[in-house]
Amino acid sequence: MTIIDETAESPAPDGAQDAGRPLLEVRDLHVEFSTRDGVAKAVNGVNYSVAAGETLAVLGESGSGKSVTAQAIMGILDMPPGRIPKGEILFRGQDMLKMSGEERRKIRGNKIAMIFQDALSSLNPVLSVGYQLGEMFRVHQGLSKKEAKAKSIELMDRVKIPAAAARVNDYPHQFSGGMRQRIMIAMALALEPDLIIADEPTTALDVTVQAQVMDLLAELQREYHMGLILITHDLGVVADVADKIAVMYAGRIVETAPVHELYKRPAHPYTKGLLESIPRLDQKGQELYAIKGLPPNLTRIPSGCAFNPRCPQAQDICRTDIPQLFPVTEQDGGELAGRGSACHFWKETIHG
Ligand SMILES: Nc1ncnc2c1ncn2[C@@H]1O[C@H](COP(=O)(O)OP(=O)(O)OP(=O)(O)O)[C@@H](O)[C@H]1O
Ligand code: SF4
Ligand SMILES: [Mg+2]
Repeated sequence: MTIIDETAESPAPDGAQDAGRPLLEVRDLHVEFSTRDGVAKAVNGVNYSVAAGETLAVLGESGSGKSVTAQAIMGILDMPPGRIPKGEILFRGQDMLKMSGEERRKIRGNKIAMIFQDALSSLNPVLSVGYQLGEMFRVHQGLSKKEAKAKSIELMDRVKIPAAAARVNDYPHQFSGGMRQRIMIAMALALEPDLIIADEPTTALDVTVQAQVMDLLAELQREYHMGLILITHDLGVVADVADKIAVMYAGRIVETAPVHELYKRPAHPYTKGLLESIPRLDQKGQELYAIKGLPPNLTRIPSGCAFNPRCPQAQDICRTDIPQLFPVTEQDGGELAGRGSACHFWKETIHG
């Protein structure tokens, strides 16, 4: 009989010391830019977190601050004109905003990797794809040219590029848009990071290819048990892959919810508008854009709730008081885990 001594000291499995703690936690992050028109307040107190193995989708119209938040996390913000007047970005509990340049460089690529929308401008056109993938291994892991090439082929296989060994010496322009995006995913995965930030990774692709690339990303994320932040302005893209959603408007999170809850019962008028803007096959010919007006100029964000000039439910209080992210509950007060809405009238919105 085998006796398991539960009191015996055994080495903690990788990551076990972080159990229960989010991989990444953004706290009260503010980012502003000096512009000719004045100070553009692009991010105004964002809070979100991602755990290992979890996918957070960040959703919002153009200019809502999704990419700027991601750039702040990656440490690739243009500073100046950008500035982070306030906030914390904790990676495994350590504030990256307080780290030295050298410490941050070690995290970038190794621990947190990013995938951008436009693979063609992210890849070097005059170097083969195999060379660019191999560089990750040569530079970061000191592998020989031959070993790096073998690793590159293996990675190209992992992201399901057909005939990887035959194509490893091809140049970026010889691949289709979807295949190039797979190469970007391979580059992000190369050093087996803990967290990937994908900023509109499929926006430049046509719809069928979008779904394939998204499925691949989700599959790899599960396999590697990574955290994934998926930035998009397209609600349709994230429904099947995200665990939870943070909706952004004018640099704030206006609603957070587990993904299916958000679709079923939005608790913020802006989210409601976004959902009503998704084209539906049974409503051909109907107006797609349910939200009237445009997002605000970030140098002159409206007082109170930033959404008030566009909101069909706005009341006087909305023009004076900034709504905090209120916990959203059932009508009888029952808890709805992970739900929040920055709307004075969230109750009416979800239960009304
Ligand atoms: N380097 C910069 N200088 C000045 N303003 C900037 C700079 N980078 C971003 N901004 C401003 O910050 C705001 C937020 O931009 P951000 O790129 O985060 O939007 P987004 O939500 O990612 O939108 P999109 O869906 O279009 O990618 C925008 O108004 C943008 O003009
Ligand atoms: S706080 Fe007021 S303006 Fe803002 S979303 Fe809610 S109802 Fe609309
Ligand atoms: Mg963006």
